[in-house]
Amino acid sequence: MNKPIRKAVLPVAGLGTRFLPATKAVPKEMLTIVDRPIIQYVVDEARAAGIEHIAFVTGRNKHVIEDHFDMAYELEDTLKARKKTEALELLEKHRPQPGSTSFTRQQAPLGLGHAIWCARDIIGDEPFAILLPDVIIKSKVSCLRQMVDLYDQTGGNIIAVEEIPEDQTHQYGIVELAERINAASSEISNMVEKPAPGTAPSNLMITGRYILQPEIFDLLSEQGKGAGGEIQLTDSMISLMSKQKFASLKFEGRSYDCGSKYGFLSANIAFGMDDPKLADDLLPFMRDIVEGQRQVAAE
Ligand code: UTP
Repeated sequence: MNKPIRKAVLPVAGLGTRFLPATKAVPKEMLTIVDRPIIQYVVDEARAAGIEHIAFVTGRNKHVIEDHFDMAYELEDTLKARKKTEALELLEKHRPQPGSTSFTRQQAPLGLGHAIWCARDIIGDEPFAILLPDVIIKSKVSCLRQMVDLYDQTGGNIIAVEEIPEDQTHQYGIVELAERINAASSEISNMVEKPAPGTAPSNLMITGRYILQPEIFDLLSEQGKGAGGEIQLTDSMISLMSKQKFASLKFEGRSYDCGSKYGFLSANIAFGMDDPKLADDLLPFMRDIVEGQRQVAAE
């Protein structure tokens, strides 16, 4: 039987430079999609997959993330006194169980691989999940839940992938597939970080959700800097691939890269449209904007 996936790492130590000046004092992960910080969506996805413990790898200026997942005594007492039951229940629903989170510091943002390595003692000798907290996934069933279901059958390492247009492959990590496992999943034979245009082995992008075996930590500890002068997770995964199986999962759903302005804005629209009351106002507003653009273009 495969060891269960009980723990997840959420690396939140990056600088968020693409969102400056918004991210000068507020972490990127705390920017809001409709009414929740980005990171809350990711924690909810992990909990819906049965994750029992979340290890946040934080950095300087990220303490507000720890506060967000803590009890807010003054606020909750005031809500109680004012009988704001609905608001209180909402806070309770999103708060992790006591003792189910850990926070460790990546002292300098040396790269995603290094951030994951910083969580090695919290994870220990068991398979675990990684969720990149600036990617949120809109799906009926939690994306990580879909991955855990596949892992329960296959074991090994699992990577969530998503189809993208061929002309965008040079911007992402791309997998090369080998034998098919089922309609949504195949074995992975290789992966490349940002392949030169026209050289990508597929149009399947690595989406920011991984299930990995703990042997990745030894590889990360030996690994030097890779692309962009950073310690890359992909390089260690490629090394691990020579010893262990990797499978892809084309999950049901759609990802939004909230680390980019386009992804962030489109996530706000897509998640906003899920709320029927908001959708009633948003739809005519968007129609007006499009109509206005058309008129300007026609003039
Ligand atoms: P990104 O490269 O997308 O995030 O890393 P970033 O560096 O914060 O953003 P930009 O490019 O400057 O705008 C993906 C995830 O990995 C984390 C980031 O916090 C982000 O959630 N990360 C990245 C770390 O925790 N440590 C690092 O050294 C690098």
